[in-house]
Amino acid sequence: MSKVTVIGAGNVGATCANVLAHKDIVKEVVLLDIVGNLAKGKALDSWQQAPIDYYSTHLVGTDDYAATADSDIVVITAGVPRKPGMSRDDLISTNAKIVNSVTESIMKHSSNPIIIVVSNPLDVMTYASWKSSGLDSSRVMGMAGILDTARYRAFLAEALNVSPKDIQAVLMGGHGDTMVPLPRYTTVSGIPLTELLDSETIEKIVNRTRVGGGELVQLMGTSAWYAPGAAAAQMVETILKDEHRIFPCCVRLSGEYGLDNIFLGVPVKLGKNGIEQIIELSLNEQEMKLLKESAEHVAAVRDVFDNMSL
Ligand code: APR
Repeated sequence: MSKVTVIGAGNVGATCANVLAHKDIVKEVVLLDIVGNLAKGKALDSWQQAPIDYYSTHLVGTDDYAATADSDIVVITAGVPRKPGMSRDDLISTNAKIVNSVTESIMKHSSNPIIIVVSNPLDVMTYASWKSSGLDSSRVMGMAGILDTARYRAFLAEALNVSPKDIQAVLMGGHGDTMVPLPRYTTVSGIPLTELLDSETIEKIVNRTRVGGGELVQLMGTSAWYAPGAAAAQMVETILKDEHRIFPCCVRLSGEYGLDNIFLGVPVKLGKNGIEQIIELSLNEQEMKLLKESAEHVAAVRDVFDNMSL
């Protein structure tokens, strides 16, 4: 049984730790926050849920990195969330410092963890964590694609009046309004989506997906946590169980899709070693154009990060 640390005991981190505990696949979940009592309180509350919901995963809350020693996987959710009117990119100056210092602290206590980044702007924060960790790029990834496809799948399920369980989809690109949902690679129990929905409805859903995070920020005054927390927990589960499931994740590309030295969402196979394979889909001209535009946007934010003196 394994040890997983979640950094940041706010909305997303606490949800991720709680969902993970419910899966009952981890010996211990350490929840760490700069606000120590917040992490302690949420971990204790989650642990007190164990006798009710029947899991054995022990939860520990702390503000001390020593408690994270020898973690197999670390999920980074530390940082500030968006407020209405902000883009994810607006968070860079605050979150870059946080993600850098968190990664350095993690690496002092765990020699070869797998890191899953959730903090925004996601693609660039994943790059930042990879750089300061010194880990192989197969061990540092960002959670965005599972969330973005979940939003897309939920909207489609509603439009089709079918169970969201039956919708399979892939989506690529950065975690922002330039993301590239792929209707051509979307099926409903194996039936191509394009057989079931007209192109105008699909287009509306694609556009709603692109700004799906912003819709929630408008509704709640802060960004979402149930689906993001559960999505990060699903990545942890797949890795720990060595399931070899295929999900869109933010990973470092070295030539795939003609892109180099950039962290971007693409379909990958996840297993016990982290990213076991990057899957290269054949994209048509329009899909490739959208992916390149998304990559250019992420590269511009990455350059802002590279020019920051941290
Ligand atoms: N070390 C540890 N924890 C930190 C640090 C740090 N250096 N800096 C901030 N935190 C903690 C805060 O104390 C807070 O409890 O991170 C937590 C963030 O929680 P929320 O404010 O509730 O934000 P949340 O909605 O969880 O989003 C966190 O994930 O989805 C992204 O855009 C979102 O970047 C944001 C991140």
